[in-house]
Amino acid sequence: MTLAIIGGSGLYALEELELEKTLSLLTPYAEQPVCLYQYRKGLSTCLFLPRHGAEHQLAPHEINYRANLWALDKAGASSIVAVNATGAVDPCLEPGSLVLPDQIIDYTYGRENSFYLGKHQLKAHIDFSEPFTPELNTQISAVADSLGLPIVKQGTYGVTQGPRLETGAEIRRLARDGCTLVGMTAMPEAALARELGIPYASLCLVINKAAGVPGAQLNHEFLMLVLEEGIVVVKNLLRELVSRYSPDKSLYMR
Ligand code: HPA
Repeated sequence: MTLAIIGGSGLYALEELELEKTLSLLTPYAEQPVCLYQYRKGLSTCLFLPRHGAEHQLAPHEINYRANLWALDKAGASSIVAVNATGAVDPCLEPGSLVLPDQIIDYTYGRENSFYLGKHQLKAHIDFSEPFTPELNTQISAVADSLGLPIVKQGTYGVTQGPRLETGAEIRRLARDGCTLVGMTAMPEAALARELGIPYASLCLVINKAAGVPGAQLNHEFLMLVLEEGIVVVKNLLRELVSRYSPDKSLYMR
């Protein structure tokens, strides 16, 4: 039973930790195996999965979320901290901000969003009123606080289909709906984790103000620069999370 980290854009390896082994797991959901990395920091280990692939070859709608979550479950993930690059719908959030959202609105379509597709059961109607595990959010915030890292402790993550960024009108609609962040990858990932009963949190790095938000800069160079700088901070936080929680004082577990 171990902490698992899902890396998003800009996070393809945890170089600060020692790579112990690579696992290759066949799943019922893909012909290709899912590749997981096991890292060590002192007494602690963690599993790592870069959701876009090691070379960022998969767009958000092309990711096989079911295979990924199934593999993490089989490998013994007891909690999942997912890292997501996001845009800010809330005009008060600046690029570089870290946010732990507590709510989701799902605007995606056509994704395989349940382990029960084609074999429906009553238990498929999972309670998703709190899509992120509050205890896990609390623990991540505590580690950020102890490092003196500012982190916003609530937010609503609107998940769009992509891969294009949104129109100004789409972002205004998300704002009216109550979204503070926009990204493309938290769903169906969060719901699949809940179906498996694995505590799940999303650590969001804001890399831009979303389309039409005053001050928005959406050119690729700017996004990549903010991403690169922000991921350094995210890695520091993750390193501390992994090392602070040895198996006997583990993160909130199922
Ligand atoms: N929109 C959707 N996804 C994103 C954005 C955005 O502005 N920035 C980073 N991921």
